Amino acid sequence: MEKKYLDLISDAFETRKKAYAPYSNYKVGAALLCKNGKIYIGCNIENGAFSPTICAERVAFVEAIKNGERDFEAIAIVTGPENADVYEMGSPCGVCRQFMSEFCEDDFKIIMTKIKSNGELLDSKEFTMNDILPDRFKLKGNK
Ligand code: THU
Repeated sequence: MEKKYLDLISDAFETRKKAYAPYSNYKVGAALLCKNGKIYIGCNIENGAFSPTICAERVAFVEAIKNGERDFEAIAIVTGPENADVYEMGSPCGVCRQFMSEFCEDDFKIIMTKIKSNGELLDSKEFTMNDILPDRFKLKGNK
């Protein structure tokens, strides 16, 4: 795997530690790479009323969009319960898939990871936007 993607995974791993997930205890970190090389991070932020909870992927996109970014290359995701020894691969939820699809081309990469709690990468899988949300709804172009 290219170094830029290994670095992206490392950012997602670190960001997972900042997740606010007292209800599910399932912490998620995401790191979003723009085509200009900048990286924006997100973690899940839960809420006692449950439905206001926001996923790590959308937090990363919100951060990027409000900074004027519109061209995205890849997102790395690290997911795992609070005290697990190994964080198993997690896949973006349906809401996040649709949210990301607004801003991403078909070949945008989604990198899912299996990582030890000490940060050692055990496995990873790369999907495209088209893989995870084929025939997606789009009202308009993404610029
Ligand atoms: N979650 C994410 O942050 N990203 C996903 O793709 C799936 C789920 C969060 C939402 C909630 O805080 C916790 O994981 C359990 O669903």
